[in-house]
Amino acid sequence: MEKTKLALLGCGNVGQGLLQIIHDKKVDVNVVAISDFKLGSVFCSDGLSVSKILDLLKEGKTLEDYNCNPSCCQGVMHKGWDVLETIENCGADIVAEMTFTDLKTAEPATSYIEAALKKGMHVTTSNKGPTALNYKKLSKLADANGVKFLIEGTVMSGTPVFNLARETFAGCDIKEVKGILNGTTNYILAQMENEGWSYEAALKKAQELGYAEADPTADVEGIDALAKVVILSNVLLGASIKPEDVPREGISKITLADVENAAKEGMRYKLIGSTKLENGKIIASVKPIKLPLSDPLTGVGGANNALTFDTDLLGEVTIQGPGAGRIETGFSILVDILKIMNS
Ligand code: HSE
Repeated sequence: MEKTKLALLGCGNVGQGLLQIIHDKKVDVNVVAISDFKLGSVFCSDGLSVSKILDLLKEGKTLEDYNCNPSCCQGVMHKGWDVLETIENCGADIVAEMTFTDLKTAEPATSYIEAALKKGMHVTTSNKGPTALNYKKLSKLADANGVKFLIEGTVMSGTPVFNLARETFAGCDIKEVKGILNGTTNYILAQMENEGWSYEAALKKAQELGYAEADPTADVEGIDALAKVVILSNVLLGASIKPEDVPREGISKITLADVENAAKEGMRYKLIGSTKLENGKIIASVKPIKLPLSDPLTGVGGANNALTFDTDLLGEVTIQGPGAGRIETGFSILVDILKIMNS
């Protein structure tokens, strides 16, 4: 049987994490194309050598420095296709969309996903923009084309959220989900409480450690968590809400004194994203909440994320794990790929 053909759209941290996992675990897929804004683009109908690509990128070279072995593909490799040209010409079965996120327009990622679905390709994405703004539209398009549109990595990277809800909670009604959906802010609040750092010092360190978005406003003002609340509402609770429907408050006004006073009361601040369905209406928000230490969310340290599902048959179930990272998010894409391959 022919191997499943995979194309990577975007080859930054997440794409390189995915390639590393495919290489290390000898995942049985054929990576036929990779297209990236910064690193260029390469296609080979016989499949690219993943170890050669990883070596090139480690050496600071681009995808266009890649060359096939003389015995490979009889010269039908191609370099320089942009993302849309790659989708049009690569013949992949599955597209992994990992380009940059834009929470205002969700472009160009939405157009890429649409183009791939219309070509009859399955799509997996870790991209919050197109999922928060266009999940229903893209899912319908996938259904109409008989393919899957999977999004495991959009919330809590590879820590299972959507697979857990879809498969392990099958038969349960999820009434509410709430949790810590942003690692940067969790790290900042934890460092303020544990180390007595100021908000500014903790943010600086979170940036140095690579937790924060390129513009950390998205983290500290709750915009990143908001995108995830919208995704959770629309995917798990069947809502059709937009980011502007959700009240949002970040942590930038929380002072060291606030954190210390909360600790004296046996409480702890966490930035909580929550969404629930009440009388057919979605009630969702992102805001800092002072929680009693008996709440499992208060035990979540560092840059970790956590989510409490309130279900009808099990009551509350809380999971915690990484919410970001190269390998962790690469793994979320792998999970979706394996699901598509095994279905
Ligand atoms: N900047 C985000 C965080 C990355 O700190 O959680 C994942 O969306």
